[in-house]
Amino acid sequence: MNKENEILKSLEEDQKKITTLQELNELKVKYLGKKGLITELNAEIKNVAVEEKKAFGQMVNALKEKFLNFYESKKESLEEEILNKKLEQEAIDISLPSKKVKRGSLHPMTRITEEFEDLFVSMGYTVYEGPEIESDENCFQKLNLPKGHPARDAQDTFYLKDEYENYLLRTQTSTAQVRAMEDHTEKGPLRIVCPGKVYRRDEDATHSHQFMQIEGLVIDENISMADLKGTLELFCKKILGEKTKVRFRPSFFPFTEPSVEVDVSCFKCQGKGCALCKGTGWIEVLGAGMVHPHVLEMSGYDSKKYQGFAFGTGIDRFAMFKYGIPDIRTIYGNDIRFIEQFDRKDSE
Ligand code: PHE
Repeated sequence: MNKENEILKSLEEDQKKITTLQELNELKVKYLGKKGLITELNAEIKNVAVEEKKAFGQMVNALKEKFLNFYESKKESLEEEILNKKLEQEAIDISLPSKKVKRGSLHPMTRITEEFEDLFVSMGYTVYEGPEIESDENCFQKLNLPKGHPARDAQDTFYLKDEYENYLLRTQTSTAQVRAMEDHTEKGPLRIVCPGKVYRRDEDATHSHQFMQIEGLVIDENISMADLKGTLELFCKKILGEKTKVRFRPSFFPFTEPSVEVDVSCFKCQGKGCALCKGTGWIEVLGAGMVHPHVLEMSGYDSKKYQGFAFGTGIDRFAMFKYGIPDIRTIYGNDIRFIEQFDRKDSE
């Protein structure tokens, strides 16, 4: 029993000295390791008289349990201490100024397209989208351009091959006129705008093989050129500024009759004449006209009851004028330095 007291005393003293996990583990070796004090005491059992073996065993177990209780609780408290220290050291300093996150910005074409859409939606139009791969029928035939019509040449384009040879990349958003009229089963009033990409076999500073148009179509009873003029004048002034003058010139499109081309006063020289307007003071921006009765009839409308006007314009051209972009190809170049310049100041 002396040994027991010795161990208890030494344990009591050792316990006070432990400050680290390493020391605690060393203590475990000292008491419970292969040659540990308690392990060795346990081995003594073979020398104990038979009738005392039970009490001896219980005594050793009690010592072991005492040590293990201490070991477990000390381990827990030391680990907690370590964790707290770590948390303290790694705490985030929320007073530090944050890193600036770089924001993207809307592409100028997206921005101006949305501006167009907002304007027309405010006038009661709905936005109507059509596919970029279109049938010859929708792109030309139902717009009064039968096969072999010479006016097709101006829009010569990209046709698909083999069994799809009757399909092409649309050359004009006017295809949306046909689609909207055919979709509209009641054949009643319509008011749509269709923005989207179109394709032609062109490529220079002011023409790209791919560009964007927006088409408008209004159908109702008693629609006249006056409605067309009023709408387009308002449109040009809202997009290019209230001082803009608008001029209508007679023109020809197979799907409108009469047809007009719309010019705006040059916003660079205010109509005095400069390089942009080639000295004329005017810039052509729109094609338009009263929907040809034959076009109405081909898509199931009663042309005696309904009239309509339609217009189409290149969104890229408006973007070039509005933002002063000299080369259309930069619009599609995806150079971030170009796009960044349109970042709104209010989004910084
Ligand atoms: N689609 C014609 C073009 O691309 C423009 C236009 C649209 C003309 C609607 C009249 C009516 O040139």
